[in-house]
Amino acid sequence: MKIWLAGASGLVGSAFAAAAARRGHRVIGIVNGFTGEIIGLAEQRNLDLTDQAATNTAVLDAFPDAIVNAAAIAAPEACDADPVRSQAMNVELPANLARAAHHLSARFIHLSSEQVFDGARTEPYAITDPVSPLNLYGRQKVASEQAVQAAAAEFAVTIRAPLLMGNSLSGRRSTHERLFADWREGKTPRLFVDEFRQPCTAENLAEVMLELCERRDLRGLFHWAGDELVSRHELGRRVREHFKLTATEAPLGSITRATVGEAARKRQACLALALKPLIGKLKTRPQTLAEQLSELRVPGPCQAWYLRR
Ligand SMILES: NC(=O)c1ccc[n+]([C@@H]2O[C@H](COP(=O)([O-])OP(=O)(O)OC[C@H]3O[C@@H](n4cnc5c(N)ncnc54)[C@H](OP(=O)(O)O)[C@@H]3O)[C@@H](O)[C@H]2O)c1
Repeated sequence: MKIWLAGASGLVGSAFAAAAARRGHRVIGIVNGFTGEIIGLAEQRNLDLTDQAATNTAVLDAFPDAIVNAAAIAAPEACDADPVRSQAMNVELPANLARAAHHLSARFIHLSSEQVFDGARTEPYAITDPVSPLNLYGRQKVASEQAVQAAAAEFAVTIRAPLLMGNSLSGRRSTHERLFADWREGKTPRLFVDEFRQPCTAENLAEVMLELCERRDLRGLFHWAGDELVSRHELGRRVREHFKLTATEAPLGSITRATVGEAARKRQACLALALKPLIGKLKTRPQTLAEQLSELRVPGPCQAWYLRR
């Protein structure tokens, strides 16, 4: 299958490129400013995906069997900092790619987020539950889901993903990589003891996306996540334990939502996702936290610190 992959240098995109190449697919990877090598790509192109005309030309020239959108402004703070650019990347781009997929009769895989929900309840959210985003990023993800569905209902799958673990190309992007960066700089990351997430790895999510490229019988909106709900603080503690770091080498501070005042209004307390119906339809399984931790590597920028600590 020929796959046109937007965001090939990102945490999820790079995992997807590697997984797709292992399964024999030809992947054309689109990046913005990234210039390094990305394993699994047959072709690598630099393109500003906020340029709609250039994006359309690139997709139509490639004439792919599937379009995978792993490009985004994926951090809520970055969306707040530049609402115009994040609207272009998080809403207008997926809408544009969905129209292209419809035009080409190509499969379209898009990524949304758990942050379409407000996290005010502890039971898992089902795909049928009403959305209730607390921040701009969540609102843009809701708008993207609706735009994709409107433009290419018969070709598109949107997956709401949770907080992601995994190994990024920069070594600075995922949950454990950010913790390592703080520890290397002698900082004490402060993690919420009362915010709960259901993380999965980018690599596991990539396997799901790949299966969905191949499974044209599955369409619409789905949830994917890991097998366990943990607090952010417990996640940090498990990362530290997995890499056999001591509390002195890798200190962790505790905070509660009550201590951050107004900022808590934009943060979700508990984001648990019900994985039905997707979980019953795929070969890929959700992973336990132990399985996820076993896949994590010491991030490149922190290897020297880790070895000499
Ligand atoms: N990370 C998470 O915890 C998480 C959780 C739930 C859902 N998601 C969703 O999963 C998807 C992938 O997220 P991620 O964490 O893999 O993102 P990421 O690591 O931040 O990667 C973003 C990708 O988008 C590209 N990009 C950004 N602006 C661009 C532009 N103007 N033109 C071309 N490319 C551009 C980047 O290219 P350069 O590297 O060249 O800049 C990079 O390849 C997103 O839809 C995100 O919302 C992520």
